[in-house]
Amino acid sequence: MRTLEEAWEYVDVNRIDASEKPAFHLTPPVGWMNDPNGFSVYDGEVHVFYQFHPYSTEWGPMHWGHAVSKDMVTFVECPVALAPDMDYDCDGCFSGSAIEDGPNHIIVYTGVSNGRQNQCVAAGDGKAYSKLAENPVINGDMLPEGFSRVDFRDPKMWRDEDCYYLVAVNADINNKGQILLFRTSNLIDWQYVKVLEAHNADIGEMWECPDFFEVSGRHVLMFSAMDMSARGLEFHNGNNCVYTIGDFDRATYDYRHGDYFSLDYGLDYYAPQTTCLPDGRRVLIGWLQSWHSIHRPASQRYCGMMTIMRELTIEGGKLIQKPISELTNYRVDRVELRNQKISGTKRLEGISGRFIDMEITVKNSDFSRLIIQLAVDDQHHTDMCYYPSKQVIFYDRTYSGIQRDVACTRNFSVKSDKKELKLRIIMDRNSVEIFANGGEQVFSAQMYTPISADAIVFHCDSTAVVDITKWNIDMENKNEH
Ligand code: FRU
Repeated sequence: MRTLEEAWEYVDVNRIDASEKPAFHLTPPVGWMNDPNGFSVYDGEVHVFYQFHPYSTEWGPMHWGHAVSKDMVTFVECPVALAPDMDYDCDGCFSGSAIEDGPNHIIVYTGVSNGRQNQCVAAGDGKAYSKLAENPVINGDMLPEGFSRVDFRDPKMWRDEDCYYLVAVNADINNKGQILLFRTSNLIDWQYVKVLEAHNADIGEMWECPDFFEVSGRHVLMFSAMDMSARGLEFHNGNNCVYTIGDFDRATYDYRHGDYFSLDYGLDYYAPQTTCLPDGRRVLIGWLQSWHSIHRPASQRYCGMMTIMRELTIEGGKLIQKPISELTNYRVDRVELRNQKISGTKRLEGISGRFIDMEITVKNSDFSRLIIQLAVDDQHHTDMCYYPSKQVIFYDRTYSGIQRDVACTRNFSVKSDKKELKLRIIMDRNSVEIFANGGEQVFSAQMYTPISADAIVFHCDSTAVVDITKWNIDMENKNEH
C-alpha cells in the first residue's frame, strides 16, 4: 500500500519546473493526472483535486492530487490529499467530489478494493483530510439485485436544506450505464433512493463521472459516456461527455431529461465536473485529455492537464460555455486589426504566440475555405479549416509533433443564428481551446508542437474579411480592469 507521506516526499523531490509547463492550466507537479475531483469552494478558495499517480506518467494506483485557486486562473499546489492506504481503497481512490459543510471540507470518493467499488467519505480543513472510520459508507450490498458491485463509482455530492445527496454511476443488469441517487442526513447513513437516469440506448455503454446541477432553474445532468458510435457531428466514436437539460421534482426525485448534446467537440476532453462560485456562477473544469488519445512527447515528465474553468449558462435550450472572466486580467500586449483581407497566404503583424487569447470575427462567407494555422514553423502547423457553406471547422493536428497513431482530425459544427462566425482561441503552450459563437460550441485539444513554433498563418482560396484582437497571456502581469 502506498502512503500519503511517500507521495509527498516523492513529489517534493521530483517536482517539475514551471517553465516546462503550461502557464494557466492545472497540471500535476509530476507524474500522471486524469479526472478533476472535488471541485468546490471552501473557505473562500476554489479547490481542484484530481486523479493522480505521482510515480509515473501512466495511470496507476489512484491518489488525489490537490491545488487551490483564488482567482480561478492561477493555482497553488497543495500536498497530496488522499492515498490508497486503507483496506477498502487499496486499489485506488477513484473519482469523487467535495462540498463545504460548515467548518469542514467534505470529500466523497470511490474506494476500490478486491474488484469492488464503494463510496467513502473524508473530512478536512482545506489542507489535510482524514478518512472516516465508518468507511465505506455506501457499498454494493445497498443496491438492488442485478446492479453491479464492480462498476459503481464517481459520487457527485450536493446539499439541499438538511439533506446531503449524491449521484453515482453504476452498471445495470445489461452492463450499461445508469445514474443512481442516494441521500443521507449525516454523511454516514446513506440510503439508496432510485435510478435517476436509466440507460439510453443512444448514449454509449458504461457511464462515468456524473454531475447534476441547477442552471437558470433547470436541472442539467452531465456525464462521460464510454464507447459511443459517432452520430452526425454531435458525437464522435469513443468516449464523449454528454449533457441534457431537464426538470427535477424535489418531492418525488423524478428527473425528466431533454435531448442529449455533446459538451465539447474536441480531441482531448473527458470527465468534467462543476461547482458554484460564491457569486452564483456555475463553472466547469474538465480533463484536457481522453483515454483513447493519450500522448506525450518522450521528454515531457508529466502527463495530463485540466481545461481552463468555463462559466455555464443556458441559452436556446443549450449550455453556453465562456472562458472564466478572470482570464482577461492576464491579457497584455493587445493587437487589434480590423477588416483584414485574407487572400492566399498571409501572416499578420503582431499575430503569433503560444500563450495567447485571440478573438477572430469572420465577417463574410463568400469563399470556400479559410485556414487558420497555429503553432507554425517549417515542419509544424495545427490547422483550423473553416468551410462557411457547411458551417463546419475541420481541425487537423497531424503536424503538431505527435509520433503515435492517435486521433488528429475532427470536423465540428459551428452553426449558429449569428451572421458572423466568432471564434475565441486560447492557447497555453500545448493546448488549444476554441470557443465558437460566444460559447455555443467548444473544442479542446492538446498539441505537442515544440514551443519555438509560434507563428500563426492564414490562407484563403478567395477573400475572407476578418477582425482580430489578440493578447498574450502573462501570469507575471496581472492587470485588473
Ligand atoms: C474516468 C474514470 C472514472 C474513475 C477514474 C479512475 O476517467 O475512469 O470513472 O473513477 O477515471 O481514475
